Amino acid sequence: RRIRFLVFAASLRAGSLNHRLATLAATVIEALGGRVDFAAMRDFDCPSYDQDVQDLDGFPEGAQEFRRRLEANDAFVISSPEYNFSVPGGLKNAIDWVSRFRPQPLNERHGLLMSASPSMAGGNRGLWALRVPLEHLGARVYPEMFSLAQAHQAFTENGWFAETRLQVWFERMIVGFMDLVEAAKHYPCAKTA
Ligand code: FNR
Repeated sequence: RRIRFLVFAASLRAGSLNHRLATLAATVIEALGGRVDFAAMRDFDCPSYDQDVQDLDGFPEGAQEFRRRLEANDAFVISSPEYNFSVPGGLKNAIDWVSRFRPQPLNERHGLLMSASPSMAGGNRGLWALRVPLEHLGARVYPEMFSLAQAHQAFTENGWFAETRLQVWFERMIVGFMDLVEAAKHYPCAKTA
């Protein structure tokens, strides 16, 4: 069985730079023999978390879908914008909802984080903020992260990086992550086994 990756961009807008980066990650994963389940952030759209709503009505469709897709895959890849040096509210809200399921679907799941921004920092501070709830929930967040600076100028028309050096760096990181997810399937107590 080939390893399966849930890949999505945590942006809702049509021209999203993070969507382009997530698409390139999906292309590379497939070229390396992995299977990709490409999701849209809209699939995981949830009303603002409210415990009264959860107690009365249960989980919204977006949270149920997020759980289903996490559990249907071995690992996840998120390309997230940085909003005000932190995690976009929609993504944090979806994580808050999904954290209330038992068993909790992010626990022991491997994840790779990336970001794209027109700025020089490439959204990197947002990824450090995103690590906090994910690691708290037991996700195995890959140590290396990829932040694409000046992302509005970084892509060629066919969706690859204009700079070969970046493309090589990106592919090496994905190879490392895929190797880890593959190896984790053989750990005796891993969820992905
Ligand atoms: C931003 N942007 C932004 N960029 C950045 O590098 N650091 C930041 O802290 C912020 N903060 C921020 C807040 C809000 C509310 C918005 C709407 C935007 C700019 C952001 O990186 C840019 O809009 C990206 O293009 C968003 O990602 P997508 O939608 O292109 O994937």
